[in-house]
Amino acid sequence: MIAPMTPQSFLLSAELADHVRASCDPPDDVVADLVAETAAMTADDDGRPIHQVAPEQAGFLQLLTRLVGARWAVEIGTSTGLSALAIARGLPADGGLLCLGRDGHRTAVARRYWARAGVDERIELRLGEAAELLAALPLQPTFDLASVDADATGYAGHVEALHPRLHPGGLVLLDHTLRAGRVLDPQDDDDRAIAALNAALATDERWETVLLPIADGLTLLRKR
Ligand SMILES: C[S@@+](CC[C@H](N)C(=O)[O-])C[C@H]1O[C@@H](n2cnc3c(N)ncnc32)[C@H](O)[C@@H]1O
Repeated sequence: MIAPMTPQSFLLSAELADHVRASCDPPDDVVADLVAETAAMTADDDGRPIHQVAPEQAGFLQLLTRLVGARWAVEIGTSTGLSALAIARGLPADGGLLCLGRDGHRTAVARRYWARAGVDERIELRLGEAAELLAALPLQPTFDLASVDADATGYAGHVEALHPRLHPGGLVLLDHTLRAGRVLDPQDDDDRAIAALNAALATDERWETVLLPIADGLTLLRKR
């Protein structure tokens, strides 16, 4: 059994989380090796653990990408590349994924695994501050899918920047929107930012909004 680096759902017991993983498509060798290599990296330059989506969440991202028929996607907060790999695998061969990250050490790992999976031709990586990289993007061509897993205090700005860059019906995925339950009792600025964003999105008429209680909370925003 492959242990996820991050949030197996904090809502599930360890036994149920094992059952969930055992009931999904098993990770292939590329995913298994990427999970192992990321786990071995243990900490980033700030001494914080390096996170990645759990393999079963990666499977869900891949499926969602296929379900919405996405051809052109953007990921905000690229690390060692598992979520990007999943999205890229869900795209058609002539589709494209733009990845925005700021840590070249981690994304060097990502590039190796994207190449090994044969999806590197579909992925363009840009390094820098996500807010600046997003603001520099033209409004056309519009994205079909956007995935956000980066600085929590930047989420609200990223959602605003994405809105005009998505076509109607386009989907935004926001990861970690339950903050391991701390949205109910925010402990820091990150928790407060997500709690405020969750409340704002629930009444924002521009989006059809659903917060799914999987992993650490995954919000789906469909542009009306
Ligand atoms: C939680 S990790 C993303 C994990 C990813 N979903 C995966 O499965 O590999 C967040 C990443 O976003 C990057 N990041 C955070 N804030 C950012 C920002 N403001 N601009 C660009 N990248 C950012 C961090 O360097 C980190 O690599």
